[in-house]
Amino acid sequence: MTTKTPSHNQIKDVAILMGSQSDWPVMKTAADMLDVLGISHEARIISAHRTPEKLRAFAMNARDNGFKLIIAGAGGAAHLPGVTASMTLLPVLGVPVAGNTLGGLDSLYSIVQMPGGIPVGTMGIGAAGAKNAALLAAAMLATSDAALEKRLQAYRDAMVASAKEFPVD
Ligand code: RP5
Repeated sequence: MTTKTPSHNQIKDVAILMGSQSDWPVMKTAADMLDVLGISHEARIISAHRTPEKLRAFAMNARDNGFKLIIAGAGGAAHLPGVTASMTLLPVLGVPVAGNTLGGLDSLYSIVQMPGGIPVGTMGIGAAGAKNAALLAAAMLATSDAALEKRLQAYRDAMVASAKEFPVD
């Protein structure tokens, strides 16, 4: 099982990158969902414009360091997911984080409109997007992990079972 405190000397399946500490309240939703599904992960603050050399080192070595997938969340002119994807063959899922000016549309457009050749799987804006990034990561990893597939199915079954049929006041 995973721990919420990153331990940098253990191999983790998923890297959660974000451009700033201010992204963490949104990106923590992805971390929490991965915890629910028993998927190991490590969260890192690495910025494509503030710490580009750190991003380069991280992305270039991510596969060799054991990561299987990267979730990258950023706000504003959100180039973190695309730049990350340009430096690794690992799948990258991008989460647009809403800033305080354009409501996240700037981030969404920045992440989703990758020119053909370097794909980023773009999620919805904000916490729902971060949660779905974790669930999509789980679905991708589950194609080669039968135990995870069972946990993901159980999560889906519980969600379906809890869906209400009639509204109440
Ligand atoms: C981006 O700029 C980050 O991903 C964040 O969403 C946004 C604002 O960053 P801070 O000014 O809050 O550090 O790089």
